[in-house]
Amino acid sequence: MTVDGKITTRAFSPVDFTSREDKLHLLRQRSLGDAVLIGRSTLAHDNVRLGLPDPKMRAEREARGQSPYPLRVIVSNEGRIDPALKIFQTDISRILIFSTTRMPRKFQVGLREKATLHLTDARSVDLARMLQQLWSEYRVRRVACEGGAELFRSLLELRLVDQLNLTIAPYIFGGKGAPTLTGRGTDFLAGGSVRCALRDMHTVGEECFLEYRLKYPA
Ligand SMILES: NC(=O)c1ccc[n+]([C@@H]2O[C@H](COP(=O)([O-])OP(=O)(O)OC[C@H]3O[C@@H](n4cnc5c(N)ncnc54)[C@H](OP(=O)(O)O)[C@@H]3O)[C@@H](O)[C@H]2O)c1
Repeated sequence: MTVDGKITTRAFSPVDFTSREDKLHLLRQRSLGDAVLIGRSTLAHDNVRLGLPDPKMRAEREARGQSPYPLRVIVSNEGRIDPALKIFQTDISRILIFSTTRMPRKFQVGLREKATLHLTDARSVDLARMLQQLWSEYRVRRVACEGGAELFRSLLELRLVDQLNLTIAPYIFGGKGAPTLTGRGTDFLAGGSVRCALRDMHTVGEECFLEYRLKYPA
């Protein structure tokens, strides 16, 4: 995020204001996960494949007993996920979509060929249940969530985030149209503030890399 807490521009453009080092840092975090999780809007805007280009990271995963690439998990309530996105053209690991039966039939047909659909009859995805399913059906023990803000906020409000990796990039955007870490909403977090305990902090060039443990009252 920028110094004033923005995670993208008001046009929701893909993040290009952080360094190569930060992008590597993201890949390192991704490489630790059994699954990588992303919200529909981030996937659509950034058009990412969620792969791991570095063979060394893949070899390290295999040495830890993980598959070479993490499972890729997409979350969407409405289910309008474009099957032409790059992620669906890359056959490196299984793709799971957690959505609802509101997903239009046309999208269900297009996506079923490329991903496993978990559709609930409820209005929205139950994120806690999704994580339980990832644990029990897919043996996922660690999830690396890459946002965006709306998904992060939902997980935070459900107290489902235990670690936050944050990079502060040397920019100030200003304005209220660009989302912060928890989105553009003006409401306080449901359930109140979350306390973060700083576990690590280092700088590379003009960027500051922070790692927090999130602490929730018992
Ligand atoms: N700086 C960074 O590190 C960083 C990281 C990630 C993203 N971003 C940027 O953030 C922007 C996107 O932000 P965003 O807040 O719109 O993204 P988002 O959280 O990726 O996407 C929001 C959409 O994801 C689905 N979703 C989110 N929470 C959900 C939940 N609890 N249950 C079910 N579905 C859920 C919904 O999809 P449906 O509408 O389909 O129901 C929702 O509209 C992009 O511009 C991206 O580049 C920046």
